[in-house]
Amino acid sequence: MSKLNDLSPYEQFLRDTFHADDAGLQRLQSEAEKAGLPAISIGPEQGKFLQVLVQLTGARKVLEIGCLGGYSGAWIARALPAGGKLISLELEEKHAAFTRKQWASLGLADKAEVRVGPALESLPGLADEAPFDLIFIDADKNNYPAYLEWALRYSRPGTVILGDNVSMGGRLADPDRQENPGIRGMRGFAEAMAGDARLVSTVVPYADGIAMAVVK
Ligand SMILES: C[S@@+](CC[C@H](N)C(=O)[O-])C[C@H]1O[C@@H](n2cnc3c(N)ncnc32)[C@H](O)[C@@H]1O
Repeated sequence: MSKLNDLSPYEQFLRDTFHADDAGLQRLQSEAEKAGLPAISIGPEQGKFLQVLVQLTGARKVLEIGCLGGYSGAWIARALPAGGKLISLELEEKHAAFTRKQWASLGLADKAEVRVGPALESLPGLADEAPFDLIFIDADKNNYPAYLEWALRYSRPGTVILGDNVSMGGRLADPDRQENPGIRGMRGFAEAMAGDARLVSTVVPYADGIAMAVVK
């Protein structure tokens, strides 16, 4: 998250006024740092945006691909109604164990569950839990096109699909970086989302850019 903290005075005002982490989220982030988790979570602006979207859409079932330490998941789960459920997929057992502890201490254990393994192996097992109301993709970029296909399979009209890091740190359209697998994955994802006749899509320029689509 450290890259997300170089803010102009205006951006800092917005963060302090609209998007500030509360004590629970601050603790999660500082413990994640102490535990040696990579500082690659979304920032509070995106967290609040996800929370607003969950409430706006009345989402009850949310799927996240890429959990890390449960920061984005905490924003999402806090917005779910009683009986709502977040399933978050994560490759690393260490990240999942950290997340379970954090979600329990935030009182979210009954609403949020992390499942461990490569997401492409976990996704086929979610058929009985679909359709999801909102799907947030934030994992390995080379697999984003495949994650979008799964997201479409697990959607219904009105489902919101989001993918973080469209800009790839400003490198998405860099002509010298187009052979990088992550950049190729993100370009493929962006082009597939923008060109899919089943979707209405845009990119919200928070932080590294969040692609967002709603299923028609
Ligand atoms: C950018 S971080 C997720 C950040 C999290 N959404 C947040 O904002 O708090 C990406 C996560 O995806 C996980 N990941 C990478 N490849 C994966 C895969 N093939 N399947 C599942 N998770 C994966 C990484 O271990 C990492 O924890």
